[in-house]
Amino acid sequence: MQNKICLVTGATSGIGYVTALELAKMGAVVILGGRDMEKAANTVIKIRSESGNPYVDFILGDLSNFEEVRKFATEFKSQYSRLDVLVNNAGAIFKEYDANPDRVEMTMALNFFGIYLLSGLLLDRMKVSVHSRIINVSSMMHKMAKNNFSSYNDEHNYKAINSYALSKLALMHFTYKLAEKLNGTGITVNAMHPGWVKSNFGNGFYTGFYGLVDTLTTPLQSTPVQGANTIIYLASSGEVAGISGKYFIKRKATGSSSASCDKEVSTELWDLAERTCKFKYDFEKLKTENKNEKSNSDEPKMNPSEDNAKDK
Ligand SMILES: NC(=O)c1ccc[n+]([C@@H]2O[C@H](COP(=O)([O-])OP(=O)(O)OC[C@H]3O[C@@H](n4cnc5c(N)ncnc54)[C@H](OP(=O)(O)O)[C@@H]3O)[C@@H](O)[C@H]2O)c1
Repeated sequence: MQNKICLVTGATSGIGYVTALELAKMGAVVILGGRDMEKAANTVIKIRSESGNPYVDFILGDLSNFEEVRKFATEFKSQYSRLDVLVNNAGAIFKEYDANPDRVEMTMALNFFGIYLLSGLLLDRMKVSVHSRIINVSSMMHKMAKNNFSSYNDEHNYKAINSYALSKLALMHFTYKLAEKLNGTGITVNAMHPGWVKSNFGNGFYTGFYGLVDTLTTPLQSTPVQGANTIIYLASSGEVAGISGKYFIKRKATGSSSASCDKEVSTELWDLAERTCKFKYDFEKLKTENKNEKSNSDEPKMNPSEDNAKDK
């Protein structure tokens, strides 16, 4: 991973933090996605010190807010000429109904629409690399959801667990559809389930009954190090070079729910994401430019400003 440029969202905690740390230890240039300046800056200091790698930096943005996603991508692009690995890890569950400034329910906004938008905005940087990889951190919980996307924004029938499961099902559809559309571009995209991990996930949600279940089952839960293992594998291993459109658990490609394999729904959901985010992917342009612009070498070519990573 020497000098590969890796962007890990939600890297200030849990699974994302371990992923960023391990990629930094492997010699990658690592950019952490954070939403709190102090937390992100402290995480950068910690990862630089633990990995001995000065090329660790952060970009700030609330990834449930589409305007901030756009700014986040613009900032990345102003500093980095390439992106080799994008880990779409930031995610959350929301106890009560809430919506982003575009009036999109928060779970779907963060765990699906924001990922659709960020990945789309960064694809032109990913195509510069000979091979680049997108890893979507999904969840086995997607299996709980049915393909009922028409009422995802219904405030009156909101249930946190249902909305979370639906958002991860949407992410599975997105992964499969994107893999299909990226075929032949050198960019791969896979989804994974990290296991049931003791992290900050669910803080604020795990109260009452769910809090009790969480406490009682703590010894059964995995650590963030275990949870990050498959992400790091997908980001770095030669064994999965060229593999795309798969769902991984414990480093093995496995089956996802039958709902997630309904191609008609994947297409409808793609259209919904286009309308909701007001953003259309341009695959034709990507494929044409792909032919002309791809770097001929696996040697990373860093923009001089990428040196900023060590000074920020
Ligand atoms: N833990 C599990 O059992 C489990 C199981 C299956 C899937 N997952 C998935 O794994 C991923 C990582 O979860 P985790 O367990 O590591 O949880 P975590 O410890 O709560 O970490 C979540 C990360 O996402 C960031 N984040 C949350 N909301 C954000 C927003 N609006 N904008 C930008 N960043 C935001 C958090 O930032 P702050 O530090 O600022 O809060 C944090 O860095 C999530 O996608 C989750 O759905 C987790």
